Amino acid sequence: MARPTPSELKAWIRDDYDAAASGWETHMAPYFRVPAERLVDDLEPARGDRCLDLACGTGLIARAFAARAGTDRVAACDISSEQVDAARSALRAGGLDPVDVQVMDAERLRYPDLRFERIGCGFGVNHFPRPLTALREVRRVLVPGGRVGFTVWGPFSPAVRVRFDERLLELIPAIGAIAGSPVEMAFGRISERYGRPATLAGLMRQAGLVDVRQLSHRFAADYVDAPTFVDAMLSRAERDLRAARLDAADRAAVRAALVTELGAFPRSAFVVERTFHVLIGRRPPD
Ligand SMILES: C[S@@+](CC[C@H](N)C(=O)[O-])C[C@H]1O[C@@H](n2cnc3c(N)ncnc32)[C@H](O)[C@@H]1O
Repeated sequence: MARPTPSELKAWIRDDYDAAASGWETHMAPYFRVPAERLVDDLEPARGDRCLDLACGTGLIARAFAARAGTDRVAACDISSEQVDAARSALRAGGLDPVDVQVMDAERLRYPDLRFERIGCGFGVNHFPRPLTALREVRRVLVPGGRVGFTVWGPFSPAVRVRFDERLLELIPAIGAIAGSPVEMAFGRISERYGRPATLAGLMRQAGLVDVRQLSHRFAADYVDAPTFVDAMLSRAERDLRAARLDAADRAAVRAALVTELGAFPRSAFVVERTFHVLIGRRPPD
């Protein structure tokens, strides 16, 4: 079969994050919050700096920027309209409505040149089929001397996760076919390649960013217990579950089987040490 085009890949990624959006604040945000806040700390925005949360998901980085730079100084964008809706709701609930959130592709930003002093992109760059195009867009919209930071995860394969993946495949064999589809395989290659800090640092330099440096951080993601862990992983797999056409009873049975299986792990197995890397660069002064 032909290699998926960048547009096909983006449509697939958009569907994936649209499907995951309704569960993101409950199941994913608790684990993405620490890296988001750390990224913003590392970017050191000053009050009044214009800041962009690129590939914002539900806007965790936008919230951290707002606390430092001022709510009316922050913009956010994402390719998934469902994530954008979730970000708008979360920001509204936190009294941060002035943050302007738009559906936008990182490879074709609609912001004018020289718009931002700071840009933060949390675990997004490894999703872009043409990351160099996105990085050039980032450079274009940064002011001279402005800084950008990207986070990428370090390896993650704790025993509970490995067992979850194995058991899910046993319970829903259709997911195996989805996982082997050309578009999913192509996404896996992009994600693995551009999620590597050294590759990303090279691309940042190629896009004309300077003073590129890597900061690495560790934190413990506490998934608490088997039901919490299973719900988090299932919410992230929502697109595949929909594609496998499970009805409510099947879903409940799959969840119960997974909770029973992972319930055999001790409490300590659900506290997962994670590493993430922050790649910081800046647009050179003119
Ligand atoms: C792992 S999530 C991270 C969300 C958020 N940055 C955080 O740290 O919580 C990756 C996000 O990248 C977005 N994304 C993927 N490709 C994109 C693109 N080409 N342009 C803009 N956003 C994109 C997805 O829709 C998703 O919301």
